[in-house]
Amino acid sequence: MSTAQPDRNGRGRGGMFRTKSVEQSIQDTEEPEHALRKDLSALDLTVFGVGVVIGTGIFVLTGKVAKENAGPSVALAFVLAGIACGLAALCYAEFASTVPVAGSAYTFSYASLGELPAWIIGWDLVLELALGCAVVAVGWSGYIQSLMDNAGWHLPKALSGVQGDGFGFDILAAILVLVLTGILVAGMKLSSRVTAVVVAVKVTVVLIVIFVGAFFITGANYEPFVPPAKGTEGGSGLAAPLVQVIFGFTPSNFGVMGIFAAAAVVFFAFIGFDIVATAAEETRNPQRDLPRGILGSLAICTVLYVAVSVVVTGMQKYDRLSTKAPLADAFKDLGHPFWAGLISFGAAVGLTSVCMILLLGQSRVFFAMSRDGLLPRFFSIVHPRFGTPYRSTILLGVAVAIVAGFTSIDVLAELVNIGTLFAFVVVALGVVILRRTRPDLPRAFRTPFVPVVPALSILASLWLMLNLPTETWVRFAVWMALGVVVYFVYGRRKSRVSEADRLQPPTI
Ligand code: ALA
Repeated sequence: MSTAQPDRNGRGRGGMFRTKSVEQSIQDTEEPEHALRKDLSALDLTVFGVGVVIGTGIFVLTGKVAKENAGPSVALAFVLAGIACGLAALCYAEFASTVPVAGSAYTFSYASLGELPAWIIGWDLVLELALGCAVVAVGWSGYIQSLMDNAGWHLPKALSGVQGDGFGFDILAAILVLVLTGILVAGMKLSSRVTAVVVAVKVTVVLIVIFVGAFFITGANYEPFVPPAKGTEGGSGLAAPLVQVIFGFTPSNFGVMGIFAAAAVVFFAFIGFDIVATAAEETRNPQRDLPRGILGSLAICTVLYVAVSVVVTGMQKYDRLSTKAPLADAFKDLGHPFWAGLISFGAAVGLTSVCMILLLGQSRVFFAMSRDGLLPRFFSIVHPRFGTPYRSTILLGVAVAIVAGFTSIDVLAELVNIGTLFAFVVVALGVVILRRTRPDLPRAFRTPFVPVVPALSILASLWLMLNLPTETWVRFAVWMALGVVVYFVYGRRKSRVSEADRLQPPTI
């Protein structure tokens, strides 16, 4: 059987836009040496989703964005980012339930848009998952160091992370990534159990912030709810959001545009619900459980984020919020160190699970790309005892540990956002294309109002992308250009779909 997707006349499609049929994608997962265990339920997936979604975004970025971009209206930024993610989730859920195999947006695009777009998406997902994991590991290290400081223990400066423009290695972040890599290699079951406990701690801490913090809200802190727009000092040129550069606005913070700029940054807080889709192949009943897991975790997180941001900006005037540990520091400033300590501890525990699941998602995308021959097939051999793709997990774990050790958070978080939003655009496009090219496929979940919802999803994602700094766009373009070169030098010739095409030419 040819692996190229037949067109309406039964002909395969050649070249960079050849597609891999959905049937072939599913069949690949049944080859014994490349098959993952199927033992996750809808509840596991929801826990998995919440486990990765609640993290640095709410624990760290809320304070930074309220202080620098949006004031108390950061709550609106969360609503906007949540709406954009909800639209994307409706598209992801249809795709994930139609193509229930490892690889997320990568696999979906291979089945609908073609090999080059799929490769581009896979390459793009590296930005989201691997760099996202590095960002979170550095955030985790910050919380641990702050707890250590409370106990009077201090790391040598050179080992506590990047120092301004100078050298530094974040030893704690690197160790965290390596330990989590070991856990993932040992097996999915173990990591889901660990995740469940960690998620419980994290959600408890978030609920403490909401319900205890509510007693300390002062109404005056909400005035003004949308602070007036204010010109930025160093914010012109490359540091200004692309939309402001394109339309010739004077770069500014706060005001209505500030809410959009804030939404483009706090979007980071939602990253992860799409990763639930990467576990499709390990799900017992993906047709039913995947959409539930994706939409469920997204809904829970949106409600919690809005509540947390309303409470925190009510506890402290936005211009006094801390940018490193805003949730804990708000309690400390109001004279409640016990709650502050508890929140710091919970945040550190919670960030562990985010880091672990991002790492897991990345190794699964890499696994799928390698199984398709776009990356060396050496990486897609599954461990004989643990049933995990241990080679890709170890390779990526070591790479992420190095990046986490040498990287500072800010720039990378924006790069992660632009990469993820780009993937959302491709997935929404894919839903519409697959409805036309393969209307026959069973879809356990159907995106409502196609093509309106996918079109809105594309517009919302593009709008958030435009609100990111111009320099982020430049970095993103460089990364993607590099990916295209790698494809033409390696993947295009080695792809399994291309080999199958060569062996068995399409029938005419
Ligand atoms: N959503 C995740 C976080 O906020 C990536 O850390």
